[in-house]
Amino acid sequence: MPCEERRPGFVVRILVLLLIGQICCFAGIAEALTILAPGSNRMVVNNRRPFVHMVIRSSGKGEVGHIIVKKETGRGEERLINPLGSWRGNGNNYFLHYILALKSGVNIFIVEPGERRIRIRYRPLTTLLNYNLAASSAYRFHRRGKVPLTCSGCHLRSSLGGHAVPGKERLKCENFSPGCYSCHRRLVDAGRWRHSPSSNLYCLGCHEGRKGRNDIVVTRGRVDDTCLLCHVNGRRWKKMGHVHGPVGIGDCTVCHDPHGARYKYQLWADGKAALCVACHADKKKLVSNTPLGFHVHGIVKGGGCTICHSPHATENAFQLLEPINKLCVGCHVTMKGIIVGHPVGGHPVQGPRDPRRPGRKFSCTSCHNPHGSDYAYLLIGDLLGGHVCSKCHH
Ligand code: HEC
Ligand code: HEC
Ligand code: HEC
Ligand code: HEC
Ligand code: HEC
Ligand code: HEC
Ligand code: HEC
Ligand code: HEC
Ligand code: HEC
Ligand code: HEC
Repeated sequence: MPCEERRPGFVVRILVLLLIGQICCFAGIAEALTILAPGSNRMVVNNRRPFVHMVIRSSGKGEVGHIIVKKETGRGEERLINPLGSWRGNGNNYFLHYILALKSGVNIFIVEPGERRIRIRYRPLTTLLNYNLAASSAYRFHRRGKVPLTCSGCHLRSSLGGHAVPGKERLKCENFSPGCYSCHRRLVDAGRWRHSPSSNLYCLGCHEGRKGRNDIVVTRGRVDDTCLLCHVNGRRWKKMGHVHGPVGIGDCTVCHDPHGARYKYQLWADGKAALCVACHADKKKLVSNTPLGFHVHGIVKGGGCTICHSPHATENAFQLLEPINKLCVGCHVTMKGIIVGHPVGGHPVQGPRDPRRPGRKFSCTSCHNPHGSDYAYLLIGDLLGGHVCSKCHH
């Protein structure tokens, strides 16, 4: 039972610490400590989650009490980081586990004894797709393609995290992969909206090991190839007339976290609007900090963007759920069936070419901005003085 947590009684512990502390002062304790993860003193971490794990091996129970991990918080101050736990492995080896919380930018951690400094430059990401995991500066724990034997001794052989793990040293391409969960539990458990294959520990269903290499790759090829294996309804998106930018390049995970996330549909922000304006920054003022005098379309705040747009794809321009005029009169029902007669008798609302927008047909958006406007009735110009009319009529 190498993985059981064994904590001696408090008094015994203090005594042992004092004793070994004395011995170690002479023996040079720094030698007895090995940082197993992260893998180097200087590295770049690009990740969704603002933390990495640290695992230190200590060859002797006495040393465990001397090991201190601190974070430099600036201005010469330091903050102590408490270990998650320490577990005894083979022989007299103890494994201390920590979580190193990261802030965007440079983070410095100090491990004592030995004053080892670990410098981590962290860049938060919403997707790993555009990021070169093969870059040598990048921190990749599974770079050599498997879980190191030092770790797998506990993590893949015993039952950690309440799941029985098959007794294999190397990972095989079994889709049911509780061994992964024993280290990556936070990935799965953190999100309130969980993705079924991840919470069912079907990790290797997506993180397929490359043949003969026992590799753990993030993905192979386009992300959507993986997603659409199961989400067969999504396959038609690629063939539709108007595909949303990120979907077109196969980047599902720029919006969805395949493991789970805070918002419904495993999104990292509310999918109705907050998610959209995070990229479409010019539309931010529709949902927050709206400038005084700016008229927002009455439906945006309640219905969000997705009441009109599909986040994936449709047959209509701008991924609208319906062609423009049909979309508008779906809510503005008094205008249903009107082709001419608005805003003045005989005026067309669809049909001819739009004199203001070459290549486009006349529609409700020829005169109205569907999102918002500085002018009343969401018009493209001031009604007073006929400025809106003169946009087309000279
Ligand atoms: C012994 C613990 C352990 C086990 C078991 C484990 N991992 Fe990891 N994995 C890590 C650590 C540590 C990192 C680095 C990130 C961190 O510190 O949280 C990592 C990182 C990753 C990454 C990011 C890319 C990389 O290489 O850093 C992926 C993907 C990943 N693990 C997938 C898996 C999958 C899939 C499994 C099961 C087949 C698995 N891991 C099993 C510890 C483990
Ligand atoms: C002596 C046994 C042992 C060894 C060796 C070991 N671990 Fe662990 N590890 C554990 C135990 C026990 C837990 C807690 C599991 C639980 O609570 O379900 C754990 C938890 C973890 C976690 C999850 C922590 C969390 O809650 O977020 C990570 C990550 C991890 N280990 C990484 C590693 C890595 C990387 C190595 C190899 C460098 C390693 N471990 C070696 C016993 C071990
Ligand atoms: C539905 C497919 C899918 C499943 C199931 C899945 N993953 Fe992932 N995983 C991905 C994709 C895709 C990425 C790359 C995400 C991105 O672009 O940000 C990824 C990234 C990761 C990363 C690194 C980035 C991060 O978000 O921290 C880790 C670690 C990871 N997966 C571990 C796991 C573990 C452990 C499991 C099982 C509990 C698992 N994955 C199940 C698809 C999946
Ligand atoms: C192994 C099959 C499988 C793969 C691969 C897979 N999913 Fe899923 N996904 C599921 C299952 C099963 C559900 C739960 C279905 C349900 O509850 O209706 C689900 C649910 C979802 C949901 C929530 C749907 C809803 O109606 O609540 C989203 C969003 C999602 N997956 C996105 C993705 C993305 C993005 C990927 C690729 C990174 C992916 N899935 C890959 C099987 C898969
Ligand atoms: C631009 C962000 C974004 C991208 C990229 C994206 N999605 Fe979505 N997805 C959403 C939003 C927002 C919803 C919620 C839809 C709603 O509220 O009607 C959603 C819903 C879903 C659902 C559940 C409802 C449904 O329509 O079936 C699935 C499954 C899904 N997405 C899969 C995918 C897959 C697969 C990809 C990649 C091909 C992908 N998504 C790319 C934002 C995105
Ligand atoms: C991760 C960033 C990202 C997110 C999140 C995102 N988009 Fe986009 N969107 C893009 C990109 C990139 C394009 C393509 C721009 C281009 O081709 O010029 C695009 C294009 C569009 C277009 C078409 C614009 C045009 O001029 O043809 C619409 C409409 C749109 N997005 C709506 C949405 C909605 C609604 C949401 C929320 C559900 C959303 N977007 C979320 C990145 C994003
Ligand atoms: C009432 C329906 C409706 C709502 C709600 C809506 N849109 Fe639109 N959107 C449209 C229409 C219609 C167009 C086409 C405009 C045109 O014909 O020029 C459009 C065009 C766009 C475009 C491309 C042209 C441009 O203005 O940049 C983007 C990007 C876009 N919408 C994003 C969003 C975002 C983000 C939200 C949420 C904050 C949102 N839309 C809410 C109807 C809507
Ligand atoms: C999902 C329903 C919905 C859709 C689709 C919709 N609207 Fe609206 N619209 C509303 C609501 C709700 C209001 C606010 C009503 C109010 O304030 O009395 C509104 C307000 C307006 C106003 C301002 C009315 C005023 O008195 O200031 C105009 C103009 C307008 N919409 C035009 C359009 C156009 C053009 C489209 C198509 C691009 C459209 N709407 C699509 C629901 C919708
Ligand atoms: C030629 C320009 C033009 C076109 C095209 C146009 N509108 Fe208007 N709309 C106006 C003007 C100007 C007003 C200002 C109030 C008025 O004069 O009735 C207005 C007012 C409105 C109002 C608010 C007042 C009311 O009557 O409730 C709504 C809603 C509206 N339009 C919806 C639409 C819809 C839906 C379409 C497409 C079917 C459309 N408009 C096409 C110019 C236009
Ligand atoms: C976006 C461009 C646009 C705007 C803005 C616009 N119109 Fe028009 N208008 C047109 C087009 C196109 C026609 C049709 C011309 C044709 O068929 O040759 C038209 C036709 C007309 C007609 C002739 C209708 C008939 O019975 O044949 C009148 C009158 C008119 N507009 C008045 C106005 C007034 C008043 C305003 C301002 C409230 C206005 N228009 C705003 C584009 C516009």
